[in-house]
Amino acid sequence: MKLATKMIHAGAEPDPSTGAIMTPIFQTSTYVQEAPGVNKGFEYARSQNPTRKALEEALAIIENGKFGLAFGSGVAATDAVIKLLKPGDEVICGNDMYGGTYRLFTMVFEKFGIRFHYVNMHNLDVVKGMINSNTKLIWVETPTNPLMNICDIAAVATMAKKNNILVCVDNTFASPYLQNPLDLGADIVMHSATKYLGGHSDVIQGSLIMNDQALREQLYFIQKSCGAVPGPMDCFLVLRGIKTLAVRMKAHCENGQRVAEWLRSNPRVAKVYWPGFADHPGHEVAKKQMRGFGGMLSFELKNDSIDEAKRVLSSTRIFSLAESLGGVESLINHPAIMTHASIPREERIKNGLNDSLIRLSVGIEDADDLIADLQSAIG
Ligand SMILES: Cc1ncc(COP(=O)(O)O)c(C=O)c1O
Repeated sequence: MKLATKMIHAGAEPDPSTGAIMTPIFQTSTYVQEAPGVNKGFEYARSQNPTRKALEEALAIIENGKFGLAFGSGVAATDAVIKLLKPGDEVICGNDMYGGTYRLFTMVFEKFGIRFHYVNMHNLDVVKGMINSNTKLIWVETPTNPLMNICDIAAVATMAKKNNILVCVDNTFASPYLQNPLDLGADIVMHSATKYLGGHSDVIQGSLIMNDQALREQLYFIQKSCGAVPGPMDCFLVLRGIKTLAVRMKAHCENGQRVAEWLRSNPRVAKVYWPGFADHPGHEVAKKQMRGFGGMLSFELKNDSIDEAKRVLSSTRIFSLAESLGGVESLINHPAIMTHASIPREERIKNGLNDSLIRLSVGIEDADDLIADLQSAIG
């Protein structure tokens, strides 16, 4: 099946009891058994729920994987992956990634004896140089949040396989419409389904997708033992969101390009971070591993002061000032104060995330209106 068809039909079987075309919201905590241990495959809703099952099947289909698992949030999905590890294990990850992932790694897991090495994942020699016998996982976020850096997934996966290291790719920014990391050799794909998969800023959820049955069993064990499962209503919302992923992503890509090009032509803008530009350092890799460049971008103003950034951030009318991304409506965000505040300032600046950086999640409104809004805010 082609992508758009797959997104609409993934995991959607008519309900056997009524023929309902949409998977019902099975709002139940338990299931009646005929006799002890005799049941219809559902025992207790932390372990199994039919709405979640339909979603997990859909997730596997749209990421070209065999198994999907849904979690209560994106960070809960990340948390489950790190729980595959034990004290003494080491992880290589990017020095430019979502602030909440950095917080989870440094402030929760380091105290359990897991070591994280934050490196420039764009430079494969640096990644290679970090590998040692304790390395058990390479955590890839591409494109990165918020600097839109690109990492070559296939090259990292080849390097990891030689050393028996798992590769997990946070595919939140690209979505399965633009990039399928399992096809490129990754072992696990992670999503903050809160973003493009849900698509309407009305749900918090995370997902993991994988091909290996043993890995699925380990992660399912963590999912049910630690209990970070999403409720059935939220599973329904993400299932519904996936149906329009293809049309939404097409529009996000078109608007993203219009806004990126307009920003670049604006004399008050110093730099635009968007992998669709031919001179972006990750452009060739992005072209190879993605089907488009998406609707996320960041920019810096020529007047590189935090006050000027704050003025712009507070002046837009269609772009709402908010954390999160990937919804149909456009959002404007200040990573230094908002989404990436948990990264120490020194560390942020060293890795290129300046105080004045502004991040946009370009929605699917009319691009002319979005540009007019930015024009009136930036000048
Ligand atoms: C790239 C990326 N990964 C993970 C997350 C965490 O997801 P959630 O907020 O659903 O827990 C986010 C949230 O912004 C994100 O942008």
